[in-house]
Amino acid sequence: MKESIKTRVRITDTTLRDAHQSLWATRMRTDDILKIAEKIDDAGYYSLECWGGATFDVCMRFLRENPWERLRRIKKVCRKTPLQMLLRGQNLLGYKHYPDDIVDRFVALACENGMDIFRVFDALNDPRNLEQAIKSVKKYGGHAQGTISYTTSPVHTIPAYVALAKEQVSMGIDSLCIKDMAGILTPGAARELVGALVKALPDLPIQVHSHMTSGMAAAMYMAAVEAGAGCVDTAISTMSSFSSQPPTESMVAILESEGFDTGLDQAKLAEINAYFQGVKAKRQPASSAKVEPVDAGVLVHAIPGGMISNLRSQLAQQDALDRLPEVLAELPNTRADMGYPPLVTPTSQIVGVQSVLNVLSGKRYSMVTDETKRYAAGYYGRTPAPIEPKLRKKLMGDLKPITCRPADLLKPGLAAAAAELPPNTIKSEEDILSYALFPEVALGYFKWRKEGGPIPADEEEAKSVSAAPVQKQGGAPSQSGAAPSGAASAGKGVAVLAPLNGTFYRSDAPGKPQMAADGAQVKSGDAVCVVEAMKLFNPIKASASGKITFLVAHGAAVTKGQALATVE
Ligand code: CO
Repeated sequence: MKESIKTRVRITDTTLRDAHQSLWATRMRTDDILKIAEKIDDAGYYSLECWGGATFDVCMRFLRENPWERLRRIKKVCRKTPLQMLLRGQNLLGYKHYPDDIVDRFVALACENGMDIFRVFDALNDPRNLEQAIKSVKKYGGHAQGTISYTTSPVHTIPAYVALAKEQVSMGIDSLCIKDMAGILTPGAARELVGALVKALPDLPIQVHSHMTSGMAAAMYMAAVEAGAGCVDTAISTMSSFSSQPPTESMVAILESEGFDTGLDQAKLAEINAYFQGVKAKRQPASSAKVEPVDAGVLVHAIPGGMISNLRSQLAQQDALDRLPEVLAELPNTRADMGYPPLVTPTSQIVGVQSVLNVLSGKRYSMVTDETKRYAAGYYGRTPAPIEPKLRKKLMGDLKPITCRPADLLKPGLAAAAAELPPNTIKSEEDILSYALFPEVALGYFKWRKEGGPIPADEEEAKSVSAAPVQKQGGAPSQSGAAPSGAASAGKGVAVLAPLNGTFYRSDAPGKPQMAADGAQVKSGDAVCVVEAMKLFNPIKASASGKITFLVAHGAAVTKGQALATVE
């Protein structure tokens, strides 16, 4: 008797993390999750992605929740299905490199609190940035999933991706994820990439992660599965599509019709979905209800949807929303200049803001953010393609290039973080990690917790959200066409002008000494202060040599063209 044996294809549910991060700015609450957690645990998923990405920041900043507590409470209910998180390699859940001792302790505590599978990725696909996290996951008994951050460029070839996968296998990964954060992986390219990986590494389980932004993800998953991928990421239908993952129910129907067995039961999925329809009515931000179902523009410009909305708000802060088309045209050029980084946190931010500056300043790279400077010098890792030497020198400014693993330059940080905390602020070691990752946000949360503050209502929270990133603007500056960092005569002396709307600082990082004292002798071209705009620090250079007098207070809002100081 011949019987066809169905191939098993597993499904990771992203409803509790990526889906609401993509659709609702990560505003799902722990109570929303717990009311349905048992049913989700019972559905037969391969794993539940429920932590990582923006979870920490949003939990503490807006929801006034302890992210560790969320993990413990989910784990208490979900005993059958492994829990999964997204980890930015050496960046953990933050936006910079952390020392190895912090990475190691974070992973240890995540395992202790119930995390099972760690998807570890790096924005530049630099394996040195994955090394410590993978080592720690293995050390504490977790499942280490390596990652290819997928993008397209002349240097992102199939052999290069296969080599990257092999390198991660040698580090001990248990499986590999192809992470298509922008939703640009086509079915044809997926078939080719998965096929090559299966051929080169036949024992390595392959999972595919994508977003429905461009509308291709479900078809792409099917092609990837046919080529040998064993697991795909989906979200329950109410929490799916748009910039989220493909709908679970549809994907199950597609896969089963092609003879694959997902182990998921449509009746159970329908119950879970009914629950999230109710949550959606409460939690969906009004702004996300207006989003187009498919952004076909992604097929042309390959810029992730989330990035475009960031560019929009950055341009709005500079009263320059009308220049979005120019920025969209500039962005691929800036990305090429910077060595074709995949566009994902934090490179999406660095490349995005630099493109905005390249357009607004009128002269490309006449303004370079601190982040671009550090990126060019190698502090984020190796760029996929080298930056043209002359441009690299210009971008780095006075920074010396590094060739080592960036985290090798960092001193252990855990004890220092613990020592910095004011007395009676923390309740557990986990709190120290929260603080090490997000110092200001964690302190705000600890204070709220100590004082027993109210749980923020959705409306209050929405207000703080819209207020947070947009700085209060003065009237439009009269010299809106003023040259950036330009010199102009302002009474006696030469004025140093604000090149952008933003916040004025005398030092280039919190707690650091002033870059130039009032009355100091400065040389033309010295960085003397900072204007923070679009969440990045833009060093401002002296426009002449002489004695500097500052005109603006540290921390004040400034508008483009405003005189910050005079040099005489
Ligand atoms: Co994603």
